[in-house]
Amino acid sequence: MENYLFAPDRIDLPEFTIRSYEPGDGPLMSEALNNSYEHLRPYMYWVKPYQSSEECEQRCRLFRARYLLAEDFVLGIFSPAGDRLLGGTGYHLREGDLSTRNAEIGMWIRADAAGKGLGTKVLVALLHWGFEAWPWLRLSWRCDTTNVASARTAEKAGMQKEGLLRSDFPLADGRRRDTYIFSALREEWLSQHGYPAQR
Ligand SMILES: CC(C)(COP(=O)(O)OP(=O)(O)OC[C@H]1O[C@@H](n2cnc3c(N)ncnc32)[C@H](O)[C@@H]1OP(=O)(O)O)[C@@H](O)C(=O)NCCC(=O)NCCS
Repeated sequence: MENYLFAPDRIDLPEFTIRSYEPGDGPLMSEALNNSYEHLRPYMYWVKPYQSSEECEQRCRLFRARYLLAEDFVLGIFSPAGDRLLGGTGYHLREGDLSTRNAEIGMWIRADAAGKGLGTKVLVALLHWGFEAWPWLRLSWRCDTTNVASARTAEKAGMQKEGLLRSDFPLADGRRRDTYIFSALREEWLSQHGYPAQR
């Protein structure tokens, strides 16, 4: 099959596990989202005040299916014991298909775990993993210019601010947002942070 990727499935670190969603994760996703609505609402445009376990289970299965089809790589951030969803992330093919070897990282952290350094740690892990175990040559991060936490997270993780896209994204209320774009490049990242064989 052309343009296919046998994607890595998970990475286990002392403070969290990042892995593809699986059937059965719906209740954990529902619990995390229902306790994070006000926190996520400003910048996560898909979030709703209440999301049932069934609805989330369906979404987890869809994410899993698209992962196996190598169409989109949505990942959950789980507690080390696996009993809590700490947030969501992923490598998204928003800058072209797999052949470009570009992906955009997205992320949300649940309300009661945010602002404690987790987002930065997860992003650093995704940059290491993405350049060492995945084929990515370029990883990007986009955020609303008013999203201070998001822009700061990208900066702290070592991504480079490339610029500002003016009025590039239409919002549901009719406004258009300005977007910062950050990136990290494989060769640059590995030369600064060490190649896998040297680690
Ligand atoms: C953006 C997000 C993923 C960052 O994760 P996090 O775990 O909260 O981030 P960290 O704790 O690692 O903090 C990273 C930096 O952001 C700052 N920050 C975190 N929350 C903040 C807030 N509400 N307002 C201002 N700065 C904030 C931190 O202070 C830190 O910077 P500093 O060390 O210079 O003080 C998380 O806050 C989130 O889920 N937000 C809602 C969804 C969202 O906006 N996702 C990103 C879309 S592009």
